[in-house]
Amino acid sequence: PHTPAADAPAGCPAAGPAPALFTWEFAADPYPAYAWLREHAPVHRTELPSGVEAWLVTRYTEARQALADARLSKNPVHHSEAAHGKGKVGIPGERSANLMTHLLNIDPPDHTRLRRLVSKAFTPRRVAAFAPRVQELTDQLIDAMIDKPGGAGQADLIHEFAFPLPIYAICDLLGVPREDQDDFRDWAGMMIRHGGGPRGGVARSVKKMRGYLAELIHRKRETLGDTAEPDEDLISALIRASDHGEHLTENEAAAMAFILLFAGFETTVNLIGNGLYALLRHPAQRELLQKSIAAGDTELLTTGIEELLRYDGPVELATWRFATEELTLGGQRIAEGDPVLVVLAAADRDPARFDEPDVLDLTRRDNQHLGYGHGIHYCLGAPLARLEGQTALATLLARLPDIRLAAEPDDLRWRGGLIMRGLRSLPVEFTPD
Ligand code: HEM
Repeated sequence: PHTPAADAPAGCPAAGPAPALFTWEFAADPYPAYAWLREHAPVHRTELPSGVEAWLVTRYTEARQALADARLSKNPVHHSEAAHGKGKVGIPGERSANLMTHLLNIDPPDHTRLRRLVSKAFTPRRVAAFAPRVQELTDQLIDAMIDKPGGAGQADLIHEFAFPLPIYAICDLLGVPREDQDDFRDWAGMMIRHGGGPRGGVARSVKKMRGYLAELIHRKRETLGDTAEPDEDLISALIRASDHGEHLTENEAAAMAFILLFAGFETTVNLIGNGLYALLRHPAQRELLQKSIAAGDTELLTTGIEELLRYDGPVELATWRFATEELTLGGQRIAEGDPVLVVLAAADRDPARFDEPDVLDLTRRDNQHLGYGHGIHYCLGAPLARLEGQTALATLLARLPDIRLAAEPDDLRWRGGLIMRGLRSLPVEFTPD
């Protein structure tokens, strides 16, 4: 049961010591530690593995409030440590001023202008029209798992399926030629493997990706006709997008393409990985879903994906926010310049908001989870993520009906990054169809 804040002020001696955060045990299952924080220290100051101090916000009400609070800026110049050159925030390897001016690093009015322009190009209609291609990619990857020479019936679901699907999908959507997409697969692989680790390789990958995108955008701009083609790719649509006579500059378009790749890649890998893992560990729920898919019913798939996002979503902590002035959140005073991290994974298990929050219930209706964030930075790619997540899980369960875990849950390794939550690998077995 939920204890109101007044009953358990932060630092209350009866609460005992705060649990260890950011250890390997924590990475494997952070939920008990989050439950403790929600109850005893819902706005909690802690030192992150990078040495930066930040506030963790774990209750649903305060989390939602923080995500919509205009005094919490996304711009790292407001970080109190930025002035001393100590701030270690942002995308690893991302140092270019050009790429820094993307949606997740800026505030209104710049954010409003850029988001309006991108929304004209990256429309729900464009995503809906992309559905057949996502299905085709999904089937090709499953075919490859089934037909693998010498290894039929076994696969690493992350490496062979969840990882390549989103990268090929976003490359196709953007208009990266097929022959270049394996380069993106390599760069993205470097970024996901070493996101929180050695910086050299990541920096090189980011640089190569940036160089490639800048050149592609330049080339497309040169050859763009006067009127839109019906099947024009997203980069061309971004270049063409206009709002009251305003367009994206070439740099802004490159930063936009980069953030679409960056924000839409590892998140979707983890939606598929965490989602399938949760289903494999909850046989009754999995059977329910499998039956409804076989019956051609999409309702449970729709509510089910939302529940998988709430239950064990890809984005554990929302991206950085910084207080532009002193403010109070959940009774805690937060100083100007302090970083604030909203723990979406903790908020989405808050018993004050969700009935039986630790139970996976694919039929859950009242499910206003924060897995896609909230407020002006609400996930721009949610329609694409839903399409990919639904297509991937439905097709896996339909084509590999007896898919099962081929490892002990305790032997699985989680990535342990700060922002994302996802498995390094997910060994599965199945009887090939
Ligand atoms: C923002 C989650 C997939 C593009 C966000 C935010 C969250 C999120 C939590 C807000 C971060 C914050 O406020 O700090 C997810 C999840 C996904 C997913 C869970 C998959 C299941 C995608 C995809 C794309 C995408 C596929 C694009 C191709 C973006 C962009 C933003 C964003 C551009 C920044 C929006 C802004 O600042 O206005 N996402 N995302 N996301 N997401 Fe996603």
